Amino acid sequence: MIISEKEQKWAQEVWDRIVPKVSAECDRLGSKIAYIPVNGRYDDKGKEDLPWWTNGFWPGLLWLLFKGTGDAKYRDAARGVEERLDEALAGYEGLHHDVGFMWNSTAVLDFKFTGYAPSRVRALHAANILAGRYNPRGRFIRAWNLDRVGWIIIDCLMNLSILYWASDETKDPRFRYVAMEHADTAIRHLLRPDGSCNHIGILDPDTGDILETPGGQGYAPGSSWTRGQAWAVYGFAISAFHTGERRYLNAARQVAHYFISALYRYAALPGRSFVPPIDFRAPDEPELYDSSAGAIAACGLLLIAELSPEDEGKLYFDAALNILKATEEKFCDWDPSRDSIVQKGAEAYHAKADRLQVPLIYADYFFTEAVLRLLHPDLKAW
Ligand code: GLY
Repeated sequence: MIISEKEQKWAQEVWDRIVPKVSAECDRLGSKIAYIPVNGRYDDKGKEDLPWWTNGFWPGLLWLLFKGTGDAKYRDAARGVEERLDEALAGYEGLHHDVGFMWNSTAVLDFKFTGYAPSRVRALHAANILAGRYNPRGRFIRAWNLDRVGWIIIDCLMNLSILYWASDETKDPRFRYVAMEHADTAIRHLLRPDGSCNHIGILDPDTGDILETPGGQGYAPGSSWTRGQAWAVYGFAISAFHTGERRYLNAARQVAHYFISALYRYAALPGRSFVPPIDFRAPDEPELYDSSAGAIAACGLLLIAELSPEDEGKLYFDAALNILKATEEKFCDWDPSRDSIVQKGAEAYHAKADRLQVPLIYADYFFTEAVLRLLHPDLKAW
């Protein structure tokens, strides 16, 4: 995908706003772990809940800044978080399918960018924990813990990245096979014929038969939780990138077509833009956004554009740019004295008020990743 000078200039201008913002946050926060700010200040999520699934995104953001600026302060703060997470990795209890999110944006990025040997070991531990959650009868990586033995969720496609990395790193294909089996089961049971996705599939853990598809973090069963659709856009594209298999690119494009048409319909409503709602099938009122879904989808759309022939890629690339520009114009706080960039994310449609229409650290991470990839198209973070 050739990025025009005009788009590069736009990305450079946004990057030039990201750097002072994250630099000030890094000076304030260091190796504390950002999640949702309260009154413009992040607390330390690591003190409250070290295995929490989002705890890799603050260091991941710092690694992006390290990549884009070369400033060692980002590396040092990110590595400090990675070291803190060792307690969660060794403790095991409380870990879940999102070990891929957590250690891809910490240890894998550290190893990719610096070659630091202990990070490779941490990432391989995490990959083994994730592969250990694979159910060979149902052919899926189980989500969450406790009695949810047959649960597969669309978000988990993003965790597959650490498995592809582990196979490349060890030259052992087992991790890749687990990832591909899981992606195939997601196509079978979570991808709907119209290109939208279920958030959750409850499978019979002994046979893999689909039993139920609850609404999960969306509006209701059968609705279309926007962040779930975004995880599918990016997640299937990542599997296509790592395997070269056409069926994953087809799946990514199918969800992307649904996402783009739903978003363009939504953006045409009075007062709305290309920043998506929490659920594409929720009522138009109240006006509830999930800016994180937009940022994640933009990253996925950029990858689909890259994996598609030039003439076909433009559709995805333009949609990604529309989302990023609308996010920057209407939803970004560039004041370095306040924590968080992207405003109005949502943990879930039915989340409590302190988790609804709030900044989420992963929105900042994916927004920054998309902008940096416009400047460095060869960057692969997943
Ligand atoms: N992985 C959970 C979420 O997207 O909220």
